[in-house]
Amino acid sequence: MATVTKENGRSSIPVGGCWNRGHSFSAILLAVAVCATIVVSHGWQATSLVMGGVVVVVVGLMLLRIHWSLNVLSSHSEGLSESAAIAEEHYIDVLLRIVRSVEARDKYSIGHSERVGKLAGKMAEYMGFSDHEARQLGTAGQLHDIGMVAIPEHIIVGKAKMGVQGFRTIKTHSQIGYDVLMPLQSISGVLDVARYHHERMNGTGYPEGLRGEEIPLCARIVAVADAYDAMTHDRPQRLALSSFSAVEELCRCAPAGYDSDCVNALAECLNFPVLEEALAVTA
Ligand SMILES: [Fe+2]
Repeated sequence: MATVTKENGRSSIPVGGCWNRGHSFSAILLAVAVCATIVVSHGWQATSLVMGGVVVVVVGLMLLRIHWSLNVLSSHSEGLSESAAIAEEHYIDVLLRIVRSVEARDKYSIGHSERVGKLAGKMAEYMGFSDHEARQLGTAGQLHDIGMVAIPEHIIVGKAKMGVQGFRTIKTHSQIGYDVLMPLQSISGVLDVARYHHERMNGTGYPEGLRGEEIPLCARIVAVADAYDAMTHDRPQRLALSSFSAVEELCRCAPAGYDSDCVNALAECLNFPVLEEALAVTA
């Protein structure tokens, strides 16, 4: 069977690994020559059986060649899939570097996306996602704000004092992130997370004003992780809340703003009381 080798990161098939066209053509020519020789030397009656045998051999050779060709195509296809996976890994790596460079423009944002991704992945585990799904959500969480790359620096840095126009510009980052991540469809939920992580359960979010379960679950999880991380880190206009105070605040905002199940999962991740108990503390 032909094998696929890698040279300079590209897949290639060894020339000697398959039955090439020249071999097939030679086999047919040889068979025809043998038939012709037998016909000339022994006549039609003596050669009918031999002719049948030769036809069987030629057809067998052709079937063998088709079989080998299919094997080669299959190997080539596997090689292409592997190359596509490697290319996608590189693409994700580049995107994560872009996220870090965008965050570097604002000292209050540094490390935010990485923390959100880790927390969202952990919450997903508590909510029964498989390890693979939780890892994918972790990556999606790290990329949730990549659309901020298109927001001018003076708006990012002046977020605390921005006006209506500035906020309108900031809001475009969810659609921009969706567009940037469009080629990454193999990561489950990445597009929904980028586009819908600012939707709110009561329909007051953006970009589409979705309500409740209209908002994809992965985006509801990241929304909670995003808000929790923002609350527990200093911002220009306020100091960081403690973890417990942030969970209390999220409990207070659920279910109108955030999915209660997701807030519960966050509380469990942090070993805090579940929602009902936290609400009781808040009351
Ligand atoms: Fe965002």
